[in-house]
Amino acid sequence: MSAPRPDGRVRVVPSLLAADFGAVRQDWAVLAAAGADWASVDVMDGHFVPNLSFGPDLVKAMKGRPGAPFIDSHLMITDPGKYGSVFVAAGSDWVTFHLEACARPKELAKELRGLGCAVGVAIKPKTPVAGLLELLGDIDLALVMTVEPGFGGQSFMEDMLPKVRALRAAIERDGRNVWVQVDGGVNAKWIAPAAAAGADSLVAGSAVFGAPDPARAWRDLTAKAQEAFDSR
Ligand code: DX5
Repeated sequence: MSAPRPDGRVRVVPSLLAADFGAVRQDWAVLAAAGADWASVDVMDGHFVPNLSFGPDLVKAMKGRPGAPFIDSHLMITDPGKYGSVFVAAGSDWVTFHLEACARPKELAKELRGLGCAVGVAIKPKTPVAGLLELLGDIDLALVMTVEPGFGGQSFMEDMLPKVRALRAAIERDGRNVWVQVDGGVNAKWIAPAAAAGADSLVAGSAVFGAPDPARAWRDLTAKAQEAFDSR
C-alpha cells in the first residue's frame, strides 16, 4: 500500500473538482512545486449526488508520471462495490466510499485493502459519526463531509466539527492509524477550527484553485492548519 500513513504532518488536499478541467496536470504542477503531494478526485455519478464529474481515467492521467500526487478517489456514487476496484486499478492510493451507499462496509473495506489500496469511508452531514467510529479498526481514512456532497464552493458546516473531535478522540484513545479528513467549504476562515478539532487531512477546492495565487493559498492554508492541529 503506497498511501502515506498519518505522521503528524497535516495535509491540505487540493480537490481537482475545482481545477481547470482543460489543464488539470498544469494546475497540479503549480501546487506540487509548492510542496503539495496529495490530491482528491471527487467522483460523482449524478445519482448518489446530483452532479457528474470524473471517471477512473482522470486518476490514470494524473498517476504514473514524475511529480504525480497521491490520490484519494472520493466515490460519491451509489455502487462503490462495483466501481471501487476500477479506481484501484486506475492507480488510486485511497478509495473512499460513502457509508450511506454500502450495506457491508467492513467487507468492502477488506476487499479494497486486499487489492493493495488504502480505504476511506465518508459520511454525509446528516449521518451520525457512530458508523465511522465502528469502522476505525478497518479503514485508513475517515471523511467527515462538511458540506452536502455534490458541488464545490459551498459553505463550511461548523456543526460537523463535533464529529471530527469524536473521531480524533477515538483514534488517540485506541492508537489507530487513521486519517481524519474533512471536505467541503474549507477555506482561510475554517481551516484552523477544523484542524484544531483534529482533522489532519483537509480537502480544499475553491480556496486553492479559486485563489489568485493557488500555490500561495495552499502554503498559507497548510501553515494555518499545522499550527492549529499542533495547538490541540
Ligand atoms: C463536494 C465536493 C467538494 C470539493 C471541495 O461534494 O467534495 O467538497 O471536494 O469543494 P470546495 O473546497 O470548493 O468547497
